[in-house]
Amino acid sequence: MRRYLEEKKSYVETILKRYLDELKYPEVIAEGMRYSVLNGGKRIRPILLLMVLELYDKDLNLGKSLAAAIEFIHSYSLVHDDLPALDNDDYRRGKLTTHKKYGEAEAILIGDSLLTHAFFIATKSVEGVSSEKLIKIISLIAEYSGIFGMIGGQMVDIESEGREVSYEKLKYIHKNKTGKLIKLSVEIGAILSEATDEEYSSLQSYAENIGLAFQIKDDILDIEGDFERIGKVVGSDLELKKTTYPSIFGLEKSKEILNQTLEDAKRSLRIFPKEKVKIFNELADYIGMREN
Ligand code: IPE
Ligand code: IPE
Ligand code: MG
Ligand code: MG
Ligand code: MG
Repeated sequence: MRRYLEEKKSYVETILKRYLDELKYPEVIAEGMRYSVLNGGKRIRPILLLMVLELYDKDLNLGKSLAAAIEFIHSYSLVHDDLPALDNDDYRRGKLTTHKKYGEAEAILIGDSLLTHAFFIATKSVEGVSSEKLIKIISLIAEYSGIFGMIGGQMVDIESEGREVSYEKLKYIHKNKTGKLIKLSVEIGAILSEATDEEYSSLQSYAENIGLAFQIKDDILDIEGDFERIGKVVGSDLELKKTTYPSIFGLEKSKEILNQTLEDAKRSLRIFPKEKVKIFNELADYIGMREN
């Protein structure tokens, strides 16, 4: 699995660099976008999109631009998430956060630029992908990134700081702030691959479960992780009095829920031949064990 992830990560980074190399002016935006995207990162979301294409033996070129667009949106979400008005974090991926490096106004614009440029990239036509399919995908990108997705989750996350939050609300936060971009990646792969309705729902359910698990693990790492590995300051959630899985259930129970959620993810893919989805099962295990 680690080798697979390394290989795909370098493939994704070559694509990202190509798009970033086209940007020159204003320098601070071009440089800041480059810094925010290329300063590390596991590239889980674009890799998931590519994994679905591989499941259907599709040409990876079909998903190149969309994989880059998703990673741009993810990077923008992190730049804004770290701002003083949100989580107020100084380190990300072991380096200074974008606003610490370039200034706050600049970081807001760098984030905005990453988001809008993602749509610029995504709307370029791709050989082998019909305009109809592309419109469907672009609409899904907007849906899952905005109020029906990541932004919705981020808003409720912020307004819930220091308050007692129900389990239902916590699930809403996690499924949206983190789950939706993960789900988006898998669904784009499924649309490009012309998955049947049944396959689409299975993949969707897999993605929902690993998305939730991914954030539960992130919450656990915010307590148990170490700075050298996670590249973020440990204890940020506690300091901001965030509601997280560990804050509601404690660490041990959170780990149980994490494992259960990953088992549910694997079970979602039962309709596919086992050998075809081996890598998806391995990715689920990796999410449970990851240290960064
Ligand atoms: C961090 O995402 C923010 C969450 C949604 C939990 P990742 O853990 O995917 O961050 P990078 O891109 O690998 O740094
Ligand atoms: C972030 O959740 C989810 C986003 C949409 C960026 P966190 O605030 O827990 O992510 P980290 O821990 O800062 O990476
Ligand atoms: Mg946050
Ligand atoms: Mg944060
Ligand atoms: Mg976190």
